[in-house]
Amino acid sequence: MTTTDDRIGSAPDPSGPTSPIDYSQRIPNNVNLNDNRRLQRALEGWQPKFLDWWRNLGPELPTKDVYLRTAVAVGRDGWAHFEHVPMEEYRWGIFLAEGDPDRTVNFGKHKGEKAWQEVPGEYRADLMRLIVIQGDTEPASVEQQRVLANTAPSIYDMRNLFQVNVEEGRHLWAMVYLLHAYFGREGREEAEQLLKRNSGDYDNPRILGAFNEETTDWLQFFMFTYFTDRDGKYQLGTLKESGFDPLARTCEFMLKEEAHHMFVGTTGVQRTVERTAEEMAKHGTDDVWEHGVIPLSVIQKYLNFQFSVSMDLFGSEQSTNAGNYYTSGLKGRWQETRRKDDHTLLDGEREMSYVEDGEIRTKTVPMISALNLDLRDEYVADCANGVNRWNQALEDAGLDERLYLPHEGFHRQVGVYAGHHVSPDGEVLDDATWEARKDEWIPSEEDRAKVAALMVPEYELGKFASWIAEPPTGINGQPVEYDYVHLYEQGLREEGLS
Ligand SMILES: [Fe+2]
Ligand SMILES: [Fe+2]
Repeated sequence: MTTTDDRIGSAPDPSGPTSPIDYSQRIPNNVNLNDNRRLQRALEGWQPKFLDWWRNLGPELPTKDVYLRTAVAVGRDGWAHFEHVPMEEYRWGIFLAEGDPDRTVNFGKHKGEKAWQEVPGEYRADLMRLIVIQGDTEPASVEQQRVLANTAPSIYDMRNLFQVNVEEGRHLWAMVYLLHAYFGREGREEAEQLLKRNSGDYDNPRILGAFNEETTDWLQFFMFTYFTDRDGKYQLGTLKESGFDPLARTCEFMLKEEAHHMFVGTTGVQRTVERTAEEMAKHGTDDVWEHGVIPLSVIQKYLNFQFSVSMDLFGSEQSTNAGNYYTSGLKGRWQETRRKDDHTLLDGEREMSYVEDGEIRTKTVPMISALNLDLRDEYVADCANGVNRWNQALEDAGLDERLYLPHEGFHRQVGVYAGHHVSPDGEVLDDATWEARKDEWIPSEEDRAKVAALMVPEYELGKFASWIAEPPTGINGQPVEYDYVHLYEQGLREEGLS
């Protein structure tokens, strides 16, 4: 499902009653942190470690301030506020969507019971694991994107990158709050570990593969926000259904912030494709490197790569854990309450594909065993929307070429396709054929080097690097050429310090 927010990137329409955020506190929050001194102290002890992490592994380019959106209330009225703030003074805090006192567990064996305000003892380990895995992805992407601003194609794009970064930082806060508030000493230890594991670290990497891949350039960043942040959206969507109410409310608010990340990805790829299409139409060839844009065939390879590593994030198609999480009421399906079935899935079935004797076959499996696949299917359908939109840009330019999503089995490391080679159009290949052809499908060293060569910074207001089109509008009604970011040196000049 694509929401309006995906497409236009404006602040989503909040629902429910307004719950103001207390900004007079050291840790802004709408959870009455003041009333719980112990928790407050514990989180205040974690805060400087977070800031250290941000300084060491957050955005590398020195800036004076950035035009950022901050949540001011988690409700109907004006939840988002924009102003120029130094990034390290961004008001990271704890925001939960409004609670519903009548909320129930909506699926699994506890269906119909009142939603839990405390962690049920029997599910403690599982719940903590789910929160830690989600929490680990949030700072990971900030680390992956650390040096990107050095090659920003515009000040507008740089601002969007930083907005994504500070919000991922806040998502880490969201998960750390749950760990501190509900999981005692173990939770606090896990919160420390979330800052100790680092993306791509040989000895202490992030938990999930896609979060240890380097974000080498802006095309990959846009593909990442399109495909990998979208995985985040779907994972949050399942946790938003959780019977553990604080987790559900946390994830609901995170989803609202996440909409902007989808917007950055969708429009970033779109603007790249637009420039490429323009040069392709002008010169009648896909070989458009010399005209300062990225060939469509290379954009397709980036798409193939990021789609396939993001597909891996859903885990194995058949998973006992996912089934148990569902039955226990910990993690639901995407849009659980809108599904028209019994919400226990005790006797549902579905088809799934697998590889056997060198070909892709299908078999029938119990629905409850295939919930990762259920979520992945929703995700793939959503991914296809953006591709259609990008193809519209190609059509508008009068071109016949189209982008496409590769086959679900392409370039997979997890699940039934792992250990097999599948081409983008779904043909099972032997090792030799794969080796001979893989450079046609995933970016080669040479492709990445050529893309990197195009990544020259453009810091002049309202100007854009050659490979990307200007966006139709700015952020929050501001003009495209607005001074969204003041670089550090600029700050020194203005203050007469240099
Ligand atoms: Fe996030
Ligand atoms: Fe995100």
